[in-house]
Amino acid sequence: MASVTSLSDSVQQQLASALSATLPEAAGADPLLRRSDRADFQANGILALAKKAKANPRELATQVVSRVATGDELIKDVEVSGPGFLNLTIADRAITENLAARYADGDRLGVPLKENAGITVIDYAQPNVAKEMHVGHLRSAVIGDALRGMLDFTGEKTIGRHHIGDWGTQFGMLIQYLFENPGELAPAADVDGEQAMSNLNRVYKASRAVFDADEEFKERARKRVVALQSGDKETLELWQQFVDESKVYFYSVFEKLDMRIRDEEIVGESAYNDGMPETARLLEEMGVAVRSEGALVVFFDEIRGKDDQPVPLIVQKADGGFGYAASDLTAIRNRVTDLHATSLLYVVDVRQSLHFKMVFEAARRAGWLTDGVTAHNMGYGTVLGADGKPFKTREGETVRLEDLLDEAVQRAAEVVREKAQDLTEDEIQERAAQVGIGAVKYADLSTSPNRDYKFDLDQMVSLNGDTSVYLQYAYARIQSILRKAGETKPAAHPELELAPAERALGLHLDAFGDTVFEAAAEYAPHKLAAYLYQLATLFTSFYDKCPVIKPAPPKDVAENRLFLCDMTARTLHQGMALLGIRTPERL
Ligand code: ARG
Repeated sequence: MASVTSLSDSVQQQLASALSATLPEAAGADPLLRRSDRADFQANGILALAKKAKANPRELATQVVSRVATGDELIKDVEVSGPGFLNLTIADRAITENLAARYADGDRLGVPLKENAGITVIDYAQPNVAKEMHVGHLRSAVIGDALRGMLDFTGEKTIGRHHIGDWGTQFGMLIQYLFENPGELAPAADVDGEQAMSNLNRVYKASRAVFDADEEFKERARKRVVALQSGDKETLELWQQFVDESKVYFYSVFEKLDMRIRDEEIVGESAYNDGMPETARLLEEMGVAVRSEGALVVFFDEIRGKDDQPVPLIVQKADGGFGYAASDLTAIRNRVTDLHATSLLYVVDVRQSLHFKMVFEAARRAGWLTDGVTAHNMGYGTVLGADGKPFKTREGETVRLEDLLDEAVQRAAEVVREKAQDLTEDEIQERAAQVGIGAVKYADLSTSPNRDYKFDLDQMVSLNGDTSVYLQYAYARIQSILRKAGETKPAAHPELELAPAERALGLHLDAFGDTVFEAAAEYAPHKLAAYLYQLATLFTSFYDKCPVIKPAPPKDVAENRLFLCDMTARTLHQGMALLGIRTPERL
């Protein structure tokens, strides 16, 4: 593995040293380098520095320019513009050599691993046992998986936690029903995902009916909750059946989503059951939590609800039971102390942001979250229907995630079939899955996670515009170009002069690693999506303006262009893979 310094980082370094040589007090200052329309890069940082040093900005800029080495190696040209900006042009040779070094580095494309990587525990894809998954669970899974892909690529160590809803009073009713009607739930080993969910639904409905109609059953269900919490063996065995059956269903949905979930990372609320009494005891001893009307709660000055009354976080209810907050507080202790997390990331609906705000603050007061550990709730917005209202079925029910995915794949099959010339039916179905699921993921990831977005299948599988299908086609098109080139193979020729469209593409390709690092640090997958879309767009204009195969350019030019094609394909492939989206070789 050989990492490559990006052109912008190299230029940045040169400018910074020219700057500190000119103005010693500017050592370490940021020259503020940006991509620019006027030249390849523009640096705006001199203005503020000149102001501070009470110097004339244009004069300072001119002095800096005189110290910048220009030539074939990196900076071909630099000039002062406007009130004291620097416009920089990169040498063609530097662009090609830089990309060639990336090209030689396999999948990593020359992107370095971060120094001092931390450990991020990422809480995502957390459905609830015995319940159907809906579009909200889609967002958590898709965004979480993409963030994880990006963080891993930077060298961060990530540990997944699927904090599934597998504990609580609602299980009393289910377990009691199963206890009284043994055999109602088929063994998990005998069912597929669909059967598992339909069994769970049946048991849920039946037990609900008894629960609502029969006061004595209600009482037995309540006792069952106590038995569950105190670890009664038989009760736990029945509870386990619900968990196992649900997992069969979860896995089938995650597989449809083309997402790998590791069993050891499914650590739900129940896993923290044993630690919860201690969490409560410690909080009370430290005075972080106080007794209020029998419950154990944490108050926050700044968090108030109606009538300006403080809204507390409930650690333990008056009846002694522990809830959602206690499990999250206990999970934090585990993640920081035992897993040694340096960052905690929660990909959870923005409607739970107050919960996390309180949980984080309580954990800080207790000293479980220390200054060295960051905690962040990546609160995502709501999925809306094409009409702009929260996404529901025609009957007004929440949409089952599976139905939605099936429909996306079916729509994609229509698109693939229309385009396919030589594909068999099996191949069409395989591509349709990759296109349909990719479309769903990309539509989600290409908007900033905290915004709502419209679930509009027509738009998602469109070949035009900012869609994954457009990116997948760009990738497949390049593969077809490479095949058509036959004997001519991609090869870099740094001695060649580059056309403007080649330079624009090359400079963008160089920025891949910097973009992934930025997007990962900001938990912003949409920045990577936007980069990839721009990459495909730049490729399209390059391919329009610079013939690769016909009319045949000179051999070295053809090879260098094929090299740019292949480098684009590899970057698209890697970038899409980080987002969890496939790039089929043919479409
Ligand atoms: N199961 C919860 C839900 O469906 C999400 C869990 C989020 N994670 C957490 N650590 N609280 O709403």
